[in-house]
Amino acid sequence: MSEEGLSNLLHEERTFPPSEEFAAAANGRSELYEQASADREAFWADQARKFVSWENDFDQVLDWSDAPFAKWFVGGTLNACVNAVDRHVEAGNGDRVAIHFVGEPGDTRDITYAELHQQVQKAANALADLGVGKGDTVAIYLPMIPEAVVAMLACARLGAPHSVVFGGFSAEALHSRIDDAGAKVVITADGGWRRGKPGALKPAVDAALAVGDSPVEKVLVVRRTEQEVEWNDDRDLWWHEQLEQAADTHEAEAFDAEHPLFILYTSGTTGKPKGIFHATGGYVVQTAYTSSVVHDIHPESDVYWCTADIGWVTGHSYIVYGPMTLGATQVMYEGTPDTPHQGRFWEIVQDKKVTVLYTAPTAIRTFMKWGKEIPAKFDLSSLRLLGSVGEPINPEAWMWYREVIGGDRCPIVDTWWQTETGAIMISPLPGVTPTRPGSAQHAIPGISAAVVDDMGQPVEKGSGGYLVLTEPWPSMLRGIWGDPQRYKDTYWSRFENVYFAGDGAKLDEDGNIWVLGRVDDVMNVSGHRMSTSEIESALVSHPKVAEAAVVGAADETTGQAICAFVILREEAVQEADDAGEGSDLVAELRNHVAKEIGPIAKPRQIMIVPELPKTRSGKIMRRLLKDVAEHREVGDVTTLADSSVMNAISAGLNKGD
Ligand code: WT7
Repeated sequence: MSEEGLSNLLHEERTFPPSEEFAAAANGRSELYEQASADREAFWADQARKFVSWENDFDQVLDWSDAPFAKWFVGGTLNACVNAVDRHVEAGNGDRVAIHFVGEPGDTRDITYAELHQQVQKAANALADLGVGKGDTVAIYLPMIPEAVVAMLACARLGAPHSVVFGGFSAEALHSRIDDAGAKVVITADGGWRRGKPGALKPAVDAALAVGDSPVEKVLVVRRTEQEVEWNDDRDLWWHEQLEQAADTHEAEAFDAEHPLFILYTSGTTGKPKGIFHATGGYVVQTAYTSSVVHDIHPESDVYWCTADIGWVTGHSYIVYGPMTLGATQVMYEGTPDTPHQGRFWEIVQDKKVTVLYTAPTAIRTFMKWGKEIPAKFDLSSLRLLGSVGEPINPEAWMWYREVIGGDRCPIVDTWWQTETGAIMISPLPGVTPTRPGSAQHAIPGISAAVVDDMGQPVEKGSGGYLVLTEPWPSMLRGIWGDPQRYKDTYWSRFENVYFAGDGAKLDEDGNIWVLGRVDDVMNVSGHRMSTSEIESALVSHPKVAEAAVVGAADETTGQAICAFVILREEAVQEADDAGEGSDLVAELRNHVAKEIGPIAKPRQIMIVPELPKTRSGKIMRRLLKDVAEHREVGDVTTLADSSVMNAISAGLNKGD
């Protein structure tokens, strides 16, 4: 963000105190801060016993003796699936709708907790029949359909860590994630509906398993689009047939609180994605606690809707584990916000009487672009709370969300967290915190965050620095799958004894935290984390590319957009010159990135350049490329090995315009 944008932000003085109605209903929530600071561990023990049913109670809240490797709720045992499903049925709430599913083509299904209970038992038995048991990993590559929830919960029921891979990732990306996790079974679908058309998923699985010695023994295929699929008789099985054959009841075992619940890959600063893994107890506790105190979900009366995809951590924590552990009723939507029309989201809010909506700033900015006349056509009066997640929300988008969607009456919770933190860490509390457009404000009760300078010292109010978390928390990642050293290096080495989040932040005069975005080589495109080096390696794997540098440039809608600078190999330069056109090549390279990583990683712009700006030690100066991509005057070039490089780049680009 530009310095000017930043100082505008910090002069944001609008504030919205909670309505009387909300404040009155926030029963005891304001006291949570005091309780947590009086005795943090006792506070978390209370939340753990309030929100989760334990088979064996824990005898120690936190074991931090082997820091930064944490153990929470030591000695406790539980089953995450039983907490999310069985106990609601046992409590007499089996008839409550768990999922109002809305398919993109318009098909709908309401699934009660009792029906979900039947399905997770059958699915667990079907997986067990294939030899899946405690500690075996299962890869899930599904569209946004209820079977994705069933598959995840069935794995949890068996103590088999799931590794969900977002359906927008390519065969190549799926292959490396399956291999890294050593998945024994893959659960996929023939395809899913997107923008009015069936999109295929199974071919990517076939391609991913065709390379090398795959650990995968069986592939379960959900029928969704009914498109033709290739079939391998030794390996492929229809999900519906296996479930039909499976036994009806499944006795769930309780697992240790520290038993791994899932692995989820996310981009880091190097080319290789990190398998972030979470443990069962602490994760379920904190996702349920935050679903209650931040999203204010009242399971008996609310209709909650989180618009994220299950392939990201937001879907894991705030579609599956958090809300379902509370026994909430929620909406699940398969498709895109503009199919078949740009009012689709608001039509769903109206039809299902959604009360709590959780979405991303990039979506809000898109809706702003489409115009407020579109939501105005629908009755949004059921809404009472709005949430935002994934990237900083600019005050204009925040105000639009409040006024146009929230009718000026719904509090907004801007929630900061990460795949690694597992659950919300920084957010206002509805009914308690007077909100400030654009700021996530304060660490929630039980969490300690700070903004520190280069030396790790807390900054003064009015200054900026790095966002850190100064105490361990229940839903913290337990590590990087198979790479404990990388876990220590990435998060616990920058400053002593504190967790380095990788985000820059400022404190305003009132002590509110403003998260400004990544300070490392990680980009945030539409709330999706992308690594610059991962896209660079994809580009250089193309035979015509000699070298590549990628930067995230500010973009009005997507937050950041991927811009690539590419140096071609000698032969390719010759060819392009002969053909007199570079644009076919640019299209070819964009498609190559889509094939290597997935369509979400396609650069918005690829610029073919003669050279890249490097320091004397050979490090690419991305800062200068960012200036070019954001159409700014190029900054200080004095540390470049060859200071004329930037002129050559600019000259080449102007020629191309
Ligand atoms: C990164 C984590 C949190 C689930 C979805 C993304 C950015 C996230 C906010 C927010 C400012 C935010 C940060 C963070 N981010 N929420 N409310 N305000 N920035 O999870 O893919 O692990 O990405 O998203 O940069 O580090 P993720």
